[in-house]
Amino acid sequence: MSEKIRVLISEEEIEQRICEMGKEISECYHGEPVHLVSVLKGGVFFTCELAKRLTIPVSIDFMSVSSYGNDTKSSGVVKIVKDLDEVVEGKNVLVVEDIVDSGRTLSYLLENLKSRKPKSLRLCTLLDKPERRVTDVQVDYTGFAIPDEFVVGYGLDYMQHYRNLPYVGVVELDA
Ligand code: IMP
Ligand code: MG
Repeated sequence: MSEKIRVLISEEEIEQRICEMGKEISECYHGEPVHLVSVLKGGVFFTCELAKRLTIPVSIDFMSVSSYGNDTKSSGVVKIVKDLDEVVEGKNVLVVEDIVDSGRTLSYLLENLKSRKPKSLRLCTLLDKPERRVTDVQVDYTGFAIPDEFVVGYGLDYMQHYRNLPYVGVVELDA
């Protein structure tokens, strides 16, 4: 079995959207510092590009979570594989994710971070698949809403491949 990648969102479209998001987010925080919590591994590409477009003071930390489930469905049972290095208490925390799918991973993560008493807690995602949502996770900033298709690139993987693609594409399997 091999797979082909069909471009869904081009590199140019992504760059342009991230510029817009950077502007919007910078305005929302009114000059206050923002503490980006990037979700490894997929969120890293988006985090770096977004951070470059923010005009407010920025700090960055990383967290890695794994959900127990098969490759294409998350179970909602989440384990913290790598926790943050710094405390978030009193900070304006902005979680930066590659994609919100069922929302289970983010629901857990947001609850967990909330208990650490940040000054504010918001969620920013490059991609959103609203049709797939099973929890009522609130997304504050969305790059693109996409249909229910499995996508790769810009941090997203298919069996750990394709994260490095500069665009977002749909995996098309042909037997
Ligand atoms: P959720 O808990 O169902 O929202 O799952 C979120 C995680 O599943 C994301 O952070 C991705 O790692 C992964 N995921 C969901 N949809 C896709 C996709 O289309 N391509 C690649 N990974 C995906
Ligand atoms: Mg992710």
